[in-house]
Amino acid sequence: MKLTDGAFVAVKDGRLVLGHVDRPFTLWQVDPGVLVVLAEIARGTAAQDLPEALAPLTGLDRHSAAALLGHLRGARVVADEPGVALRDVHAEIAKVVSAAPDLDHDHDFLQAARQCEDLTLTSAAAQYALWSAVGHIAGNAIPGAVVECGVWRGGSMLLAALALLNHHVEDRDLYLFDTFDWAWEPAGGHDGMVGAEERTTGAEAATPEHMSSGTSAAEIHKRITTAGYPGERVHCVTGFVQDTVPGHAPDRIALLRLDTDQYESTLHELRELYPRVVPHGVVIVDDYGKLSGATRATDEYLAGLDHRVLLHRIDTQGRVFVKPAER
Ligand SMILES: C[S@@+](CC[C@H](N)C(=O)[O-])C[C@H]1O[C@@H](n2cnc3c(N)ncnc32)[C@H](O)[C@@H]1O
Repeated sequence: MKLTDGAFVAVKDGRLVLGHVDRPFTLWQVDPGVLVVLAEIARGTAAQDLPEALAPLTGLDRHSAAALLGHLRGARVVADEPGVALRDVHAEIAKVVSAAPDLDHDHDFLQAARQCEDLTLTSAAAQYALWSAVGHIAGNAIPGAVVECGVWRGGSMLLAALALLNHHVEDRDLYLFDTFDWAWEPAGGHDGMVGAEERTTGAEAATPEHMSSGTSAAEIHKRITTAGYPGERVHCVTGFVQDTVPGHAPDRIALLRLDTDQYESTLHELRELYPRVVPHGVVIVDDYGKLSGATRATDEYLAGLDHRVLLHRIDTQGRVFVKPAER
């Protein structure tokens, strides 16, 4: 049993809380005894030995210890694999603790983000960047559609739709490009984790096993329309972006969000879609800084432009920039 990457312990309002970065607003108040349990897990004690090991430390009997471990599994704080990942947990704690407190005061955002819980893989900071980007295009009447390549369960596009509704906008087209089958093209030589030797596919990087299920274009469409966005404005385009883009893409794009992780697809999206982003439009590249494919494709493409952009860091795995006005 090990702590999953992204599990964290933090202090909120003077109380110990436990959470996971995949659900940054779901914080589970914990008894200090739980920390003893986590420490024991971090030591690498095998799952079957834990109830025994915890008894003298916590006073829990075997049954209660097993129930507690069940809770921790359910909250995705621990997983049944050997090894420890405390170093990663510390990095994730830094990410979440620095992201959350100020966002708690934006009630419209918080309400929208809660509706997207379990539907997006992004951090609170990344969600807020998207929320703000929609505010930027709506507030400045920047023309064009909102486009996402790599949609998964549609949480980011649901958030974008909720942000548009928050600005009383219902006439923007939303384009969602995905295989809607949790599928990537085969990883190429440039794909992997930034800084790691081995090649990692987008699927491996993004996926705990249970996340792959429950996605269909129809479900995502329904989710967004049920939230109040007009159905005729939501276009789900199924297939590899290499086949569907640019053929099914809108002519003008106000907000482009790229999240297919890998080199080949990300470079294809930038080549075909960036020219359609209008001046002052926004581009968000997810996984920049985490996955070498998305990172390298972005660097390569931007280096070839006749202008330079301020590629601003959102979090450990995301960047955003505004397309400069034409000179
Ligand atoms: C990391 S997930 C997207 C996460 C989502 N944007 C969010 O906010 O949580 C990556 C998605 O990209 C899709 N994908 C990967 N490669 C693709 C390609 N070449 N064409 C279309 N979709 C692709 C996968 O099916 C998967 O749903």
